[in-house]
Amino acid sequence: MPEIKVLFVTSEIAPLIKTGGLADVSGALPAALRNLNIDVRVLVPGYPQVMKQMGPSEVVATFSDLPGFPASRLIFSIMKSGVPLLVLDCPDLYQREGGPYMDPATGHDWADNHLRFGLLSKIASVLGSFESTLSWRPDLVHGNDWQTGLTGVYLSVAAGAVPNIMTIHNLAFQGNFRPKKVGLLHLPPESFHINGIELYGNMSFLKAGLYYAYHITTVSPNYAREIQGEELGFGLQGLLRSRNNDITGILNGIDTGEWDPETDRHLPEHFSVGRMAGKAQNKQALQSRMGLEVNPDVPLLAVVSRLTHQKGLDLLLEIVPRLLELPVQLVILGSGESSMQQTARDLAQEYPGKIAAMIGFDEGLSHQIEAGADMFIMPSRFEPCGLNQFYSQRYGTPPIVHNTGGLADSVVDCNQDTLRDGTASGFVFSGMTTDNLFAAIQRAVELYRDERKWKALRRNCMSKDFTWETSARAYRRVYLKVLGRTE
Ligand code: ADP
Ligand code: GLC
Repeated sequence: MPEIKVLFVTSEIAPLIKTGGLADVSGALPAALRNLNIDVRVLVPGYPQVMKQMGPSEVVATFSDLPGFPASRLIFSIMKSGVPLLVLDCPDLYQREGGPYMDPATGHDWADNHLRFGLLSKIASVLGSFESTLSWRPDLVHGNDWQTGLTGVYLSVAAGAVPNIMTIHNLAFQGNFRPKKVGLLHLPPESFHINGIELYGNMSFLKAGLYYAYHITTVSPNYAREIQGEELGFGLQGLLRSRNNDITGILNGIDTGEWDPETDRHLPEHFSVGRMAGKAQNKQALQSRMGLEVNPDVPLLAVVSRLTHQKGLDLLLEIVPRLLELPVQLVILGSGESSMQQTARDLAQEYPGKIAAMIGFDEGLSHQIEAGADMFIMPSRFEPCGLNQFYSQRYGTPPIVHNTGGLADSVVDCNQDTLRDGTASGFVFSGMTTDNLFAAIQRAVELYRDERKWKALRRNCMSKDFTWETSARAYRRVYLKVLGRTE
Protein backbone atom coordinates (compact mmCIF):
# COMPACT_ATOMS: atom_id res chain seq x y z
CA MET A 1 0.00 0.00 0.00
CA PRO A 2 1.38 3.42 -0.89
CA GLU A 3 1.73 5.70 2.08
CA ILE A 4 0.32 8.78 0.29
CA LYS A 5 -1.32 9.33 -3.11
CA VAL A 6 -0.41 12.58 -4.83
CA LEU A 7 -1.63 14.21 -8.03
CA PHE A 8 1.32 16.26 -9.34
CA VAL A 9 0.16 18.92 -11.80
CA THR A 10 2.55 20.57 -14.24
CA SER A 11 2.59 22.43 -17.54
CA GLU A 12 5.83 20.78 -18.76
CA ILE A 13 7.68 17.54 -18.15
CA ALA A 14 11.03 16.27 -19.47
CA PRO A 15 11.68 14.54 -21.75
CA LEU A 16 8.26 15.08 -23.40
CA ILE A 17 8.00 18.88 -23.37
CA LYS A 18 10.53 21.32 -21.94
CA THR A 19 11.13 25.06 -21.95
CA GLY A 20 13.10 25.25 -18.70
CA GLY A 21 13.85 23.83 -15.29
CA LEU A 22 10.22 23.10 -14.38
CA ALA A 23 10.29 20.30 -16.96
CA ASP A 24 13.43 18.81 -15.42
CA VAL A 25 11.88 18.90 -11.96
CA SER A 26 8.58 17.40 -13.15
CA GLY A 27 10.46 14.65 -14.97
CA ALA A 28 12.53 13.63 -11.94
CA LEU A 29 10.87 14.54 -8.63
CA PRO A 30 7.78 12.30 -9.07
CA ALA A 31 10.05 9.32 -9.71
CA ALA A 32 12.06 10.10 -6.57
CA LEU A 33 8.83 10.37 -4.57
CA ARG A 34 7.66 7.03 -5.90
CA ASN A 35 10.89 5.53 -4.52
CA LEU A 36 9.68 6.70 -1.11
CA ASN A 37 6.44 4.73 -1.48
CA ILE A 38 4.40 7.77 -2.50
CA ASP A 39 2.00 7.01 -5.35
CA VAL A 40 2.48 10.09 -7.55
CA ARG A 41 0.67 10.52 -10.85
CA VAL A 42 1.37 13.47 -13.11
CA LEU A 43 -1.32 15.53 -14.83
CA VAL A 44 -0.03 17.36 -17.92
CA PRO A 45 -1.71 19.02 -20.94
CA GLY A 46 -1.88 16.95 -24.14
CA TYR A 47 0.28 19.16 -26.35
CA PRO A 48 1.25 17.52 -29.68
CA GLN A 49 4.74 16.79 -28.26
CA VAL A 50 3.17 14.84 -25.39
CA MET A 51 0.51 13.06 -27.47
CA LYS A 52 3.13 11.88 -29.98
CA GLN A 53 5.65 10.57 -27.47
CA MET A 54 3.54 9.20 -24.66
CA GLY A 55 3.58 5.49 -25.59
CA PRO A 56 0.79 2.95 -24.98
CA SER A 57 -2.26 4.67 -23.56
CA GLU A 58 -5.87 4.30 -22.53
CA VAL A 59 -8.72 6.80 -22.16
CA VAL A 60 -9.85 6.80 -18.53
CA ALA A 61 -12.31 9.70 -18.33
CA THR A 62 -14.18 12.20 -20.48
CA PHE A 63 -15.38 15.68 -19.56
CA SER A 64 -18.03 16.93 -21.94
CA ASP A 65 -19.94 19.49 -19.92
CA LEU A 66 -17.58 21.47 -17.72
CA PRO A 67 -19.01 25.01 -17.78
CA GLY A 68 -16.81 27.37 -19.79
CA PHE A 69 -14.48 24.72 -21.22
CA PRO A 70 -14.43 22.70 -24.46
CA ALA A 71 -14.80 18.91 -24.26
CA SER A 72 -11.73 17.04 -23.07
CA ARG A 73 -10.64 13.59 -21.96
CA LEU A 74 -8.02 12.05 -19.74
CA ILE A 75 -5.54 9.54 -21.13
CA PHE A 76 -3.51 7.24 -18.90
CA SER A 77 0.03 6.30 -19.90
CA ILE A 78 3.31 5.44 -18.20
CA MET A 79 6.57 7.37 -18.60
CA LYS A 80 9.84 5.54 -19.29
CA SER A 81 10.80 6.43 -15.71
CA GLY A 82 7.82 4.35 -14.54
CA VAL A 83 5.79 7.40 -13.45
CA PRO A 84 2.09 7.19 -14.39
CA LEU A 85 0.88 10.08 -16.54
CA LEU A 86 -2.60 11.52 -16.87
CA VAL A 87 -2.60 13.41 -20.15
CA LEU A 88 -5.32 16.03 -20.52
CA ASP A 89 -6.37 15.78 -24.15
CA CYS A 90 -8.31 18.83 -25.31
CA PRO A 91 -7.64 19.41 -29.01
CA ASP A 92 -9.35 22.83 -29.01
CA LEU A 93 -6.87 24.10 -26.42
CA TYR A 94 -3.67 22.11 -26.81
CA GLN A 95 -3.47 20.51 -30.26
CA ARG A 96 -1.48 23.21 -32.07
CA GLU A 97 2.08 23.72 -33.24
CA GLY A 98 4.25 25.95 -31.04
CA GLY A 99 5.41 26.20 -27.47
CA PRO A 100 3.33 25.49 -24.40
CA TYR A 101 2.91 29.18 -23.60
CA MET A 102 3.71 31.13 -26.74
CA ASP A 103 2.33 31.44 -30.24
CA PRO A 104 5.41 31.28 -32.50
CA ALA A 105 3.58 33.25 -35.20
CA THR A 106 3.14 36.35 -33.02
CA GLY A 107 5.86 35.85 -30.41
CA HIS A 108 3.17 36.57 -27.79
CA ASP A 109 1.46 34.33 -25.27
CA TRP A 110 -1.41 32.24 -26.63
CA ALA A 111 -4.54 34.41 -26.42
CA ASP A 112 -6.47 31.63 -24.68
CA ASN A 113 -3.86 30.78 -22.01
CA HIS A 114 -6.45 31.53 -19.31
CA LEU A 115 -8.55 28.68 -20.72
CA ARG A 116 -5.60 26.36 -21.43
CA PHE A 117 -4.37 26.54 -17.87
CA GLY A 118 -7.79 27.21 -16.35
CA LEU A 119 -8.79 23.78 -17.65
CA LEU A 120 -5.60 22.19 -16.29
CA SER A 121 -6.42 23.60 -12.85
CA LYS A 122 -10.09 22.65 -13.15
CA ILE A 123 -9.33 19.03 -14.00
CA ALA A 124 -6.84 18.86 -11.13
CA SER A 125 -9.66 19.94 -8.81
CA VAL A 126 -12.08 17.42 -10.33
CA LEU A 127 -9.59 14.61 -9.72
CA GLY A 128 -9.08 15.83 -6.17
CA SER A 129 -12.78 15.83 -5.24
CA PHE A 130 -15.97 13.78 -5.34
CA GLU A 131 -16.49 14.97 -8.95
CA SER A 132 -13.92 12.41 -10.11
CA THR A 133 -15.03 9.20 -11.78
CA LEU A 134 -11.58 7.60 -11.49
CA SER A 135 -11.07 4.80 -9.00
CA TRP A 136 -7.67 6.33 -8.11
CA ARG A 137 -8.20 9.26 -5.72
CA PRO A 138 -5.28 11.40 -4.54
CA ASP A 139 -4.89 12.39 -0.88
CA LEU A 140 -3.40 15.68 -1.99
CA VAL A 141 -2.91 17.78 -5.14
CA HIS A 142 0.55 19.28 -5.73
CA GLY A 143 0.52 22.15 -8.25
CA ASN A 144 3.47 23.93 -9.85
CA ASP A 145 3.65 27.58 -10.91
CA TRP A 146 0.86 29.87 -12.14
CA GLN A 147 -0.42 27.42 -14.74
CA THR A 148 -1.91 25.32 -11.94
CA GLY A 149 -2.83 28.27 -9.74
CA LEU A 150 -6.62 28.05 -9.95
CA THR A 151 -6.69 24.48 -8.60
CA GLY A 152 -7.18 25.67 -5.01
CA VAL A 153 -10.01 28.04 -5.96
CA TYR A 154 -11.94 25.30 -7.74
CA LEU A 155 -11.22 22.88 -4.87
CA SER A 156 -12.53 25.43 -2.38
CA VAL A 157 -16.05 25.00 -3.76
CA ALA A 158 -15.87 21.28 -4.65
CA ALA A 159 -17.47 18.55 -2.53
CA GLY A 160 -15.04 16.09 -0.97
CA ALA A 161 -12.01 18.22 -1.84
CA VAL A 162 -8.54 17.09 -0.78
CA PRO A 163 -5.90 19.63 0.34
CA ASN A 164 -3.50 21.14 -2.17
CA ILE A 165 0.02 22.52 -2.06
CA MET A 166 1.69 24.88 -4.49
CA THR A 167 5.34 25.04 -5.54
CA ILE A 168 6.74 28.32 -6.82
CA HIS A 169 9.41 27.81 -9.45
CA ASN A 170 9.40 31.44 -10.54
CA LEU A 171 7.43 34.26 -8.94
CA ALA A 172 8.02 36.53 -11.93
CA PHE A 173 5.54 34.58 -14.06
CA GLN A 174 2.13 35.19 -12.53
CA GLY A 175 -0.56 34.48 -15.11
CA ASN A 176 -2.35 37.80 -14.64
CA PHE A 177 -5.48 38.41 -16.74
CA ARG A 178 -8.23 41.03 -17.09
CA PRO A 179 -10.99 40.65 -14.49
CA LYS A 180 -13.64 39.72 -17.05
CA LYS A 181 -11.93 36.31 -17.38
CA VAL A 182 -13.20 35.47 -13.87
CA GLY A 183 -16.67 34.93 -15.32
CA LEU A 184 -15.39 33.06 -18.38
CA LEU A 185 -13.60 30.59 -16.10
CA HIS A 186 -16.69 30.07 -13.94
CA LEU A 187 -14.82 30.95 -10.78
CA PRO A 188 -16.86 31.87 -7.72
CA PRO A 189 -17.47 35.66 -8.12
CA GLU A 190 -16.68 36.29 -4.47
CA SER A 191 -13.15 34.95 -5.06
CA PHE A 192 -12.32 38.16 -6.96
CA HIS A 193 -11.20 39.89 -3.81
CA ILE A 194 -7.98 41.00 -2.18
CA ASN A 195 -8.44 37.93 0.03
CA GLY A 196 -8.63 35.74 -3.05
CA ILE A 197 -7.54 35.88 -6.66
CA GLU A 198 -7.46 39.65 -7.20
CA LEU A 199 -4.07 41.34 -7.68
CA TYR A 200 -3.93 45.09 -8.41
CA GLY A 201 -7.27 45.00 -10.24
CA ASN A 202 -6.49 41.91 -12.31
CA MET A 203 -7.10 38.24 -11.76
CA SER A 204 -3.87 36.40 -10.93
CA PHE A 205 -3.45 32.66 -11.30
CA LEU A 206 -0.33 32.68 -9.13
CA LYS A 207 -1.85 34.83 -6.40
CA ALA A 208 -4.82 32.44 -6.39
CA GLY A 209 -2.44 29.51 -6.05
CA LEU A 210 -0.61 31.08 -3.14
CA TYR A 211 -3.73 32.27 -1.38
CA TYR A 212 -5.68 29.01 -1.56
CA ALA A 213 -2.87 26.48 -1.07
CA TYR A 214 -2.64 24.70 2.28
CA HIS A 215 1.12 24.97 2.04
CA ILE A 216 3.58 26.72 -0.29
CA THR A 217 6.98 25.44 -1.25
CA THR A 218 9.65 27.02 -3.37
CA VAL A 219 12.77 25.61 -4.91
CA SER A 220 15.48 26.83 -2.55
CA PRO A 221 15.60 27.99 1.10
CA ASN A 222 17.25 31.27 0.12
CA TYR A 223 14.55 32.10 -2.47
CA ALA A 224 11.90 31.29 0.17
CA ARG A 225 13.32 34.19 2.20
CA GLU A 226 13.97 36.52 -0.75
CA ILE A 227 10.39 36.43 -2.06
CA GLN A 228 9.13 37.81 1.23
CA GLY A 229 11.00 41.07 0.57
CA GLU A 230 10.31 44.08 -1.69
CA GLU A 231 13.05 43.39 -4.21
CA LEU A 232 12.12 39.87 -5.28
CA GLY A 233 8.52 39.64 -4.06
CA PHE A 234 7.10 40.86 -7.39
CA GLY A 235 4.14 42.45 -5.63
CA LEU A 236 3.28 39.28 -3.72
CA GLN A 237 5.63 39.83 -0.77
CA GLY A 238 2.79 40.96 1.53
CA LEU A 239 0.79 37.79 0.97
CA LEU A 240 3.92 35.66 1.25
CA ARG A 241 4.96 37.34 4.49
CA SER A 242 1.53 36.74 5.95
CA ARG A 243 1.95 33.04 5.11
CA ASN A 244 5.51 32.84 6.39
CA ASN A 245 4.78 29.78 8.55
CA ASP A 246 3.34 27.90 5.57
CA ILE A 247 6.33 28.36 3.25
CA THR A 248 9.13 25.81 2.90
CA GLY A 249 12.20 26.16 0.67
CA ILE A 250 13.33 22.81 -0.74
CA LEU A 251 16.40 22.82 -2.95
CA ASN A 252 15.94 21.00 -6.27
CA GLY A 253 17.96 17.92 -7.07
CA ILE A 254 18.99 16.73 -10.52
CA ASP A 255 18.33 13.64 -12.57
CA THR A 256 21.71 11.99 -12.03
CA GLY A 257 20.87 9.28 -14.58
CA GLU A 258 20.25 11.81 -17.37
CA TRP A 259 23.18 14.00 -16.26
CA ASP A 260 26.07 11.62 -15.70
CA PRO A 261 29.41 12.26 -17.45
CA GLU A 262 30.19 8.53 -17.18
CA THR A 263 27.21 7.42 -19.28
CA ASP A 264 25.74 10.54 -20.97
CA ARG A 265 24.55 9.46 -24.42
CA HIS A 266 25.11 12.94 -25.86
CA LEU A 267 28.86 12.98 -25.20
CA PRO A 268 31.59 11.91 -27.60
CA GLU A 269 33.74 10.73 -24.64
CA HIS A 270 32.88 9.77 -21.09
CA PHE A 271 34.75 10.77 -17.95
CA SER A 272 34.55 10.65 -14.19
CA VAL A 273 36.29 12.12 -11.19
CA GLY A 274 38.92 9.38 -11.34
CA ARG A 275 39.30 9.42 -15.16
CA MET A 276 39.37 12.99 -16.40
CA ALA A 277 41.05 12.49 -19.79
CA GLY A 278 37.65 12.34 -21.47
CA LYS A 279 36.86 15.88 -20.36
CA ALA A 280 39.72 17.29 -22.44
CA GLN A 281 38.41 15.34 -25.43
CA ASN A 282 34.96 16.82 -24.90
CA LYS A 283 36.53 20.28 -24.87
CA GLN A 284 38.26 19.61 -28.14
CA ALA A 285 35.08 18.22 -29.72
CA LEU A 286 33.06 21.21 -28.53
CA GLN A 287 35.59 23.73 -29.81
CA SER A 288 35.60 21.99 -33.13
CA ARG A 289 31.78 21.65 -33.39
CA MET A 290 31.26 25.31 -32.48
CA GLY A 291 33.96 26.65 -34.82
CA LEU A 292 36.20 27.82 -31.98
CA GLU A 293 39.98 27.65 -32.23
CA VAL A 294 40.93 24.18 -30.99
CA ASN A 295 43.22 24.95 -28.09
CA PRO A 296 43.36 22.93 -24.86
CA ASP A 297 44.97 25.76 -22.87
CA VAL A 298 42.59 28.67 -23.26
CA PRO A 299 39.78 28.58 -20.68
CA LEU A 300 36.42 27.93 -22.33
CA LEU A 301 33.50 29.74 -20.68
CA ALA A 302 29.93 28.63 -21.31
CA VAL A 303 26.33 29.72 -21.10
CA VAL A 304 23.20 27.59 -21.62
CA SER A 305 20.18 29.67 -20.80
CA ARG A 306 16.95 31.40 -21.60
CA LEU A 307 18.11 34.81 -22.82
CA THR A 308 15.98 37.00 -20.58
CA HIS A 309 16.48 39.86 -18.14
CA GLN A 310 16.30 37.36 -15.23
CA LYS A 311 19.45 35.59 -16.35
CA GLY A 312 21.61 38.76 -16.35
CA LEU A 313 23.55 37.78 -19.46
CA ASP A 314 23.44 41.37 -20.69
CA LEU A 315 26.24 41.96 -18.16
CA LEU A 316 28.34 39.19 -19.66
CA LEU A 317 27.82 40.34 -23.25
CA GLU A 318 28.88 43.84 -22.25
CA ILE A 319 32.30 42.76 -20.97
CA VAL A 320 33.21 40.44 -23.83
CA PRO A 321 36.09 42.57 -25.20
CA ARG A 322 37.70 42.74 -21.73
CA LEU A 323 37.23 39.01 -21.22
CA LEU A 324 38.86 38.07 -24.49
CA GLU A 325 42.04 39.75 -23.32
CA LEU A 326 42.34 37.36 -20.36
CA PRO A 327 42.23 35.38 -22.77
CA VAL A 328 39.16 33.13 -22.78
CA GLN A 329 36.76 31.61 -25.27
CA LEU A 330 32.99 31.78 -24.86
CA VAL A 331 30.22 29.50 -26.09
CA ILE A 332 26.56 30.52 -25.78
CA LEU A 333 23.51 28.33 -26.29
CA GLY A 334 20.22 30.07 -25.69
CA SER A 335 17.08 31.64 -26.95
CA GLY A 336 14.77 34.37 -25.77
CA GLU A 337 14.68 38.14 -26.14
CA SER A 338 15.50 39.07 -29.72
CA SER A 339 17.88 41.93 -28.82
CA MET A 340 20.01 39.61 -26.69
CA GLN A 341 19.95 36.91 -29.38
CA GLN A 342 21.16 39.50 -31.88
CA THR A 343 23.97 40.76 -29.62
CA ALA A 344 25.18 37.19 -29.12
CA ARG A 345 25.14 36.56 -32.87
CA ASP A 346 26.94 39.85 -33.59
CA LEU A 347 29.67 39.06 -31.06
CA ALA A 348 30.21 35.63 -32.59
CA GLN A 349 30.63 37.28 -35.97
CA GLU A 350 32.95 39.95 -34.66
CA TYR A 351 35.21 37.47 -32.83
CA PRO A 352 35.30 34.30 -34.94
CA GLY A 353 37.14 31.40 -33.34
CA LYS A 354 36.79 33.04 -29.91
CA ILE A 355 33.06 33.35 -29.43
CA ALA A 356 30.39 30.95 -30.66
CA ALA A 357 26.65 31.48 -30.33
CA MET A 358 23.94 28.96 -31.10
CA ILE A 359 20.48 30.50 -30.90
CA GLY A 360 17.82 27.87 -30.29
CA PHE A 361 17.03 24.98 -27.96
CA ASP A 362 19.27 21.93 -28.24
CA GLU A 363 19.25 19.33 -25.46
CA GLY A 364 22.22 17.32 -26.81
CA LEU A 365 24.40 20.38 -27.27
CA SER A 366 23.57 21.56 -23.73
CA HIS A 367 25.10 18.33 -22.39
CA GLN A 368 28.15 18.68 -24.64
CA ILE A 369 28.67 22.22 -23.40
CA GLU A 370 28.49 21.19 -19.76
CA ALA A 371 31.07 18.49 -20.47
CA GLY A 372 33.39 20.41 -22.79
CA ALA A 373 33.55 23.81 -21.09
CA ASP A 374 35.94 24.77 -18.28
CA MET A 375 33.63 27.22 -16.47
CA PHE A 376 29.92 27.92 -16.57
CA ILE A 377 28.47 31.43 -16.16
CA MET A 378 25.17 32.26 -14.38
CA PRO A 379 24.96 35.97 -13.50
CA SER A 380 21.20 35.73 -12.79
CA ARG A 381 19.51 38.80 -11.28
CA PHE A 382 17.34 36.31 -9.42
CA GLU A 383 17.28 32.53 -9.60
CA PRO A 384 14.68 30.53 -7.65
CA CYS A 385 16.95 27.49 -7.84
CA GLY A 386 18.74 27.06 -11.17
CA LEU A 387 19.80 23.67 -12.44
CA ASN A 388 22.77 24.33 -14.64
CA GLN A 389 25.02 25.10 -11.69
CA PHE A 390 24.35 21.52 -10.50
CA TYR A 391 24.97 20.02 -13.94
CA SER A 392 28.19 22.07 -14.23
CA GLN A 393 29.52 20.88 -10.90
CA ARG A 394 28.73 17.28 -11.77
CA TYR A 395 30.56 17.69 -15.09
CA GLY A 396 33.66 19.26 -13.50
CA THR A 397 32.88 22.71 -14.90
CA PRO A 398 32.97 25.10 -11.91
CA PRO A 399 30.09 27.60 -12.09
CA ILE A 400 30.53 31.36 -11.73
CA VAL A 401 27.30 32.63 -10.21
CA HIS A 402 25.61 35.69 -8.73
CA ASN A 403 24.92 35.48 -5.01
CA THR A 404 21.16 34.99 -5.27
CA GLY A 405 18.41 32.42 -4.76
CA GLY A 406 19.33 28.79 -5.20
CA LEU A 407 22.71 29.70 -6.69
CA ALA A 408 23.80 30.93 -3.26
CA ASP A 409 22.48 27.72 -1.69
CA SER A 410 24.30 25.38 -4.05
CA VAL A 411 27.67 26.90 -4.96
CA VAL A 412 30.44 27.44 -2.40
CA ASP A 413 32.78 30.30 -3.30
CA CYS A 414 36.35 29.27 -3.85
CA ASN A 415 38.86 30.85 -1.49
CA GLN A 416 41.85 29.63 0.47
CA ASP A 417 39.71 28.29 3.32
CA THR A 418 37.11 26.52 1.20
CA LEU A 419 39.78 25.07 -1.07
CA ARG A 420 41.58 23.75 1.98
CA ASP A 421 38.50 22.23 3.61
CA GLY A 422 37.32 20.72 0.33
CA THR A 423 34.01 22.59 0.05
CA ALA A 424 34.86 25.11 -2.72
CA SER A 425 32.77 24.41 -5.81
CA GLY A 426 32.71 27.57 -7.91
CA PHE A 427 32.90 31.37 -7.83
CA VAL A 428 30.21 33.53 -6.26
CA PHE A 429 30.01 37.29 -6.75
CA SER A 430 27.79 39.78 -4.95
CA GLY A 431 26.42 42.97 -6.50
CA MET A 432 25.10 42.88 -10.07
CA THR A 433 27.73 44.95 -11.83
CA THR A 434 29.93 44.21 -14.82
CA ASP A 435 33.00 44.84 -12.67
CA ASN A 436 31.96 42.28 -10.07
CA LEU A 437 31.20 39.69 -12.73
CA PHE A 438 34.50 40.40 -14.44
CA ALA A 439 36.40 40.08 -11.16
CA ALA A 440 34.82 36.67 -10.50
CA ILE A 441 35.74 35.41 -13.96
CA GLN A 442 39.24 36.77 -13.51
CA ARG A 443 39.58 34.87 -10.21
CA ALA A 444 38.43 31.69 -11.95
CA VAL A 445 40.90 32.14 -14.80
CA GLU A 446 43.74 32.70 -12.33
CA LEU A 447 42.91 29.52 -10.47
CA TYR A 448 42.66 27.64 -13.76
CA ARG A 449 46.33 28.48 -14.33
CA ASP A 450 47.21 26.63 -11.11
CA GLU A 451 46.77 23.06 -12.24
CA ARG A 452 46.85 21.51 -8.79
CA LYS A 453 44.27 23.83 -7.30
CA TRP A 454 42.03 23.61 -10.38
CA LYS A 455 42.06 19.83 -10.16
CA ALA A 456 41.13 20.04 -6.49
CA LEU A 457 38.25 22.38 -7.26
CA ARG A 458 36.93 20.12 -10.02
CA ARG A 459 37.22 17.12 -7.74
CA ASN A 460 35.12 18.87 -5.08
CA CYS A 461 32.48 19.77 -7.65
CA MET A 462 32.22 16.26 -9.04
CA SER A 463 32.06 14.63 -5.62
CA LYS A 464 28.98 16.52 -4.44
CA ASP A 465 25.67 14.72 -4.03
CA PHE A 466 22.81 16.31 -5.98
CA THR A 467 20.42 13.36 -6.12
CA TRP A 468 16.71 14.02 -5.66
CA GLU A 469 16.40 11.76 -2.64
CA THR A 470 17.02 14.43 0.02
CA SER A 471 14.59 16.84 -1.62
CA ALA A 472 11.96 14.12 -2.08
CA ARG A 473 12.16 13.38 1.65
CA ALA A 474 11.55 17.06 2.38
CA TYR A 475 8.46 17.08 0.10
CA ARG A 476 7.24 13.96 1.89
CA ARG A 477 7.47 15.80 5.21
CA VAL A 478 5.39 18.66 3.76
CA TYR A 479 2.77 16.21 2.46
CA LEU A 480 2.53 14.51 5.86
CA LYS A 481 2.23 17.85 7.64
CA VAL A 482 -0.57 19.03 5.33
CA LEU A 483 -2.39 15.73 5.81
CA GLY A 484 -2.01 16.06 9.57
CA ARG A 485 -0.05 12.83 9.82
CA THR A 486 3.11 12.34 11.81
CA GLU A 487 6.21 10.63 10.49
P1 ADP B 1 14.97 28.21 -15.97
O1 ADP B 1 13.99 27.15 -15.67
O2 ADP B 1 14.72 29.50 -15.24
O3 ADP B 1 15.16 28.45 -17.42
P2 ADP B 1 16.95 26.36 -14.84
O4 ADP B 1 18.41 26.53 -14.65
O5 ADP B 1 16.18 25.86 -13.70
O6 ADP B 1 16.39 27.75 -15.39
O7 ADP B 1 16.67 25.30 -15.98
C1 ADP B 1 16.95 25.51 -17.32
C2 ADP B 1 16.96 24.18 -18.01
O8 ADP B 1 16.74 24.39 -19.40
C3 ADP B 1 18.28 23.46 -17.90
O9 ADP B 1 18.08 22.07 -17.99
C4 ADP B 1 19.02 23.99 -19.14
O10 ADP B 1 20.04 23.13 -19.54
C5 ADP B 1 17.91 24.02 -20.13
N1 ADP B 1 18.08 24.99 -21.22
C6 ADP B 1 17.90 26.34 -21.18
N2 ADP B 1 18.11 26.88 -22.40
C7 ADP B 1 18.43 25.86 -23.21
C8 ADP B 1 18.75 25.76 -24.61
N3 ADP B 1 18.78 26.84 -25.38
N4 ADP B 1 19.00 24.54 -25.12
C9 ADP B 1 18.96 23.44 -24.33
N5 ADP B 1 18.68 23.46 -23.02
C10 ADP B 1 18.41 24.65 -22.47
C1 GLC C 1 12.26 28.10 -12.71
C2 GLC C 1 13.40 28.92 -12.15
C3 GLC C 1 14.66 28.12 -11.94
C4 GLC C 1 14.36 26.77 -11.32
C5 GLC C 1 13.32 26.04 -12.14
C6 GLC C 1 12.99 24.66 -11.58
O1 GLC C 1 12.24 28.07 -14.09
O2 GLC C 1 13.66 30.07 -12.95
O3 GLC C 1 15.54 28.85 -11.12
O4 GLC C 1 15.53 26.01 -11.25
O5 GLC C 1 12.16 26.78 -12.19
O6 GLC C 1 12.52 24.71 -10.26
